[in-house]
Amino acid sequence: MNTKKDKLVIFDTTLRDGEQSPGASMTKDEKIRIARMLERMRVDVIEAGFAIASPGDFEAVQAVAETVKDSRVCSLARAVGPDISRAGEALKKANASRIHTFIATSPIHMKYKLQMEPEKVLERAVEAVKLARQFTDDVEFSLEDGSRSEPEFMYRIIEAVINAGAGTINIPDTVGYGEPGEYGAMFRRVIENVPNSDKAIFSTHCHNDLGLAVANSLSAVMNGVRQVECTINGLGERAGNASLEEIVMAVRTRQDLFPVETGIDTSHIVPTSRLVSSITGFPVQPNKAIVGANAFAHESGIHQDGVLKHRETYEIMRAQDVGWGHNRLVLGKHSGRAAVKARYEELGIHFEDTAEFQMVFERFKALADKKHEIFDEDLQSLVTGTEAPVERYRLEDLEVRSKFGSLPQAQLRLLIDGESHRVEAYGSGPVDATFKAIESIAKSQADLKLYSVNAVTQGTDSQGTVTVRLERDGRLVNGVGADTDILVASAQAYLDALNMLDSGENKRKGV
Ligand code: KIV
Ligand code: ZN
Repeated sequence: MNTKKDKLVIFDTTLRDGEQSPGASMTKDEKIRIARMLERMRVDVIEAGFAIASPGDFEAVQAVAETVKDSRVCSLARAVGPDISRAGEALKKANASRIHTFIATSPIHMKYKLQMEPEKVLERAVEAVKLARQFTDDVEFSLEDGSRSEPEFMYRIIEAVINAGAGTINIPDTVGYGEPGEYGAMFRRVIENVPNSDKAIFSTHCHNDLGLAVANSLSAVMNGVRQVECTINGLGERAGNASLEEIVMAVRTRQDLFPVETGIDTSHIVPTSRLVSSITGFPVQPNKAIVGANAFAHESGIHQDGVLKHRETYEIMRAQDVGWGHNRLVLGKHSGRAAVKARYEELGIHFEDTAEFQMVFERFKALADKKHEIFDEDLQSLVTGTEAPVERYRLEDLEVRSKFGSLPQAQLRLLIDGESHRVEAYGSGPVDATFKAIESIAKSQADLKLYSVNAVTQGTDSQGTVTVRLERDGRLVNGVGADTDILVASAQAYLDALNMLDSGENKRKGV
């Protein structure tokens, strides 16, 4: 009996659809760091961005294409010439590239958004695929809002784009409206009714508006789909996309059910989840499947007793298989440069030059003086906030006075454009006082959209990572700071966000 299973292609879109999540935009360097981790995890396709969206997006796709060697690198493009040429240009240096072109096919999108007749949409789709094939032999076509499209029209357009050279056909549940039984059956019917369906791989791409993105994706797999589009931590527009870790672990854990297997090295899942969380400032909820802090924590006595007697009584997966506690080499005050650098390499973090590493190593030493054991999570937090391309603002000193029953006061010394300034302010709390003091001189006119603090490791000696999201003129940036003193981390995060605003990074053009 032949037991060989089909390969399930894992297409990660954290850097494209994930980044479309408000406030989750990433710099080029941040994208490269995440892409390296995805490559290590053996993700098959990395969608690095939407090359035409902005010069920043173009450069990020180009940089990921130049860096990644083992995964295929993809750029999104609307079904129009300039988008496709720009995607092709950005992917020129990739080892293996893909252009992912799309157009909406549902009656509501064609009528109101595109204001195009279905025949014109079909014609545009075919032209787009033909043009994309001039840049790469790997072209994916998506029927945007596919789950609400007319079946007969879908069959026609899919047959036509396969004939034009599309090798992957993606039918997204763009608005998160699908239900598993219905969405799976749709794929079954499409595959049965499109005469040349055997010439393409069918793909699913689900949004989580009804909390069904993973269920819908898995139902699609049960009905013939062989590519899943997903994101780390389920990051993505609105309620997010299907989460990569849940899809991969469901398929792996239920090998008795699924007719497919992935090539993913699951031991990199947790470190990658942490990296994405620290870069975007989107914390992972403790009860999130696979990557939440409590995902493998058994609290009740009955469960603990059962697990101790025989692990499988309550555990369906092993924590170390997804990277919990795996390789968690502890470093400390006596660890030297080589050990620290080697651990960073293992975490997928490379330093462009010795000056960059030196800055991080100094932070490591300062932290090791305050905290005995340095974990992977600490190392990751030390490299956040080092990458604003322009550093106009730097924290030199901070003193905060806080007394029960009276208003806290913050006094700071800031280096602004190389000149030292003293500032102070009162606030409703110590963080408020710190931010007010900074604003008394920065006068940024930015709105604070998010302030969040998370403990990096367990224990009261943990570092706190702080994310500050600022908005100015419709532009959102995330600043990040990390320190065992959360007021210092807060000030650093605020200054990091101001540096980002002034550097013009993360600029996005609406498309
Ligand atoms: O959700 C969606 O329809 C998309 C497409 C561009 C694939 O993200
Ligand atoms: Zn999407």
